[in-house]
Amino acid sequence: MRKLHRKVAAFLPFWLLFEQAASYLYDNRYAGDKVIRAVPDNEAAAKTLKNLTQQFKVDLWQPGSVSYISKGAFVDVRVSRNTSQILLPYLQQANIQYTVLISDLQKAVEKQSGLKSSRNRRSLPGYSYEIYHSLEEIQSWMYHLNKSHSDLVHMFSIGKSYEGRPLFVLKLGRRSQVYKKAVWMDCGIHAREWIGPAFCQWFVKEALQTYQTDPAMRRMLNQLYFYIMPILNVDGYHFSWTHDRFWRKTRSKNSRFRCYGVDANRNWKVKWCDEGASIHPCDDTYCGPFPESEPEVKAVAHFLRKHRKQIKAYLSFHAYAQMLLYPYSYKYATIPNFSCVESAAFNAVNALQSVYGIRYRYGPASSTLYVSSGSSMDWAYKNGIPYAFAFELRDTGHFGFLLPENLIKPTCTETMLAVKNITMHLLKKCH
Ligand SMILES: *[C@@H]1O[C@H](CO)[C@@H](O)[C@H](O)[C@H]1NC(C)=O
Ligand SMILES: *[C@@H]1O[C@H](CO)[C@@H](O)[C@H](O)[C@H]1NC(C)=O
Ligand SMILES: *[C@@H]1O[C@H](CO)[C@@H](O)[C@H](O)[C@H]1NC(C)=O
Ligand SMILES: *[C@@H]1O[C@H](CO)[C@@H](O)[C@H](O)[C@H]1NC(C)=O
Ligand SMILES: [Zn+2]
Repeated sequence: MRKLHRKVAAFLPFWLLFEQAASYLYDNRYAGDKVIRAVPDNEAAAKTLKNLTQQFKVDLWQPGSVSYISKGAFVDVRVSRNTSQILLPYLQQANIQYTVLISDLQKAVEKQSGLKSSRNRRSLPGYSYEIYHSLEEIQSWMYHLNKSHSDLVHMFSIGKSYEGRPLFVLKLGRRSQVYKKAVWMDCGIHAREWIGPAFCQWFVKEALQTYQTDPAMRRMLNQLYFYIMPILNVDGYHFSWTHDRFWRKTRSKNSRFRCYGVDANRNWKVKWCDEGASIHPCDDTYCGPFPESEPEVKAVAHFLRKHRKQIKAYLSFHAYAQMLLYPYSYKYATIPNFSCVESAAFNAVNALQSVYGIRYRYGPASSTLYVSSGSSMDWAYKNGIPYAFAFELRDTGHFGFLLPENLIKPTCTETMLAVKNITMHLLKKCH
């Protein structure tokens, strides 16, 4: 009987095993953790806050790097129970205003996590787009579409991840003998930003469901190809389901340090490892030992180089901030053809806002968010893709990376309009 149980267990999906093994997700490791938003209102406070975040090695949620902490801009950090007991009085003493965004992170993880959603909506063909899916589920979903929608979908791999997983891309669009322009979309460069992969799936679903009925979608799929990579950082995403919900980087090993992973959005060969990137392997914005050191980045860069003539737009999906960004990230400067890109962004954020009134900020990444070197968007732009955008999806910090599943639908619905708007802009001639 025991033996049989064990055998059965071997065939159970891993999330069931997970639930049986522990009543708490992730071994209860976030119990007592808090997410705090601090606002330094003068230079001295900013300096102190910088110092504290470094000293206590807290998990910085926003902005992306310690170097961006500055006067007037909020800082979201995840701190352990013990650290918060020291840090909070410290902030009070230093007269730095703060609010608690999430008071019990373990509870928030349990509440949001896709691991606890109802199972019956996971299996195909009743696949739900309003829950978060594991890597395995997303891959089965892709295989399924490749079979069931072979007229519009073609699935292929562009390489292997550090841990040996295939890097799948969906080519979406009506097959054609004649040359077609293309749009590239990737989600999940940063592992913990789960709303990204949810959007990539949503886009494919909408495209397939409305191809027959929506003239705009029909035009898009007839006149363009979409290369969609639902999860770029597959190892990191998997790790964020099994070990650390707040993992950001890839999972490559460093020979000289005990820390794992590289920031896959600082690893591109464009002003590599300059401002806004870290040379320290233990940092969340570590740029890696050399450009394209990460097999995931190298595979995508290789694909984009090979198709640079065909691909007219590069879209990358992140969270969280509610922003639509375009180049440059790495310097304060205006891109050539600024007005075409700017008007595409302006229209896109207006289209997005028209659904639920959610206002996105938009502009060059450097001045709208912060300066960062080695990003995929800058690289795509520099390699001849004229429309390069990065979305920072919902929200602005209330839930942060733990955006609840009931917000997947509104977030994806509004983002869909923005993406369609950018795409239709592409089909027209700017100027
Ligand atoms: C941070 O604060 C500690 C303790 O007050 C101090 O020793 C250290 O020099 C400070 N570091 C920086 C970079 O300001
Ligand atoms: C997708 O389907 C085609 C046949 O239509 C097949 O040749 C291809 O190998 C499939 N892709 C994957 C990744 O299995
Ligand atoms: C794009 O958005 C703008 C502003 O909301 C709107 O005027 C335009 O009609 C939209 N275009 C498409 C094709 O959706
Ligand atoms: C600017 O636009 C023109 C006309 O569409 C195009 O030929 C040129 O390649 C564009 N330049 C850049 C840097 O995107
Ligand atoms: Zn990101």
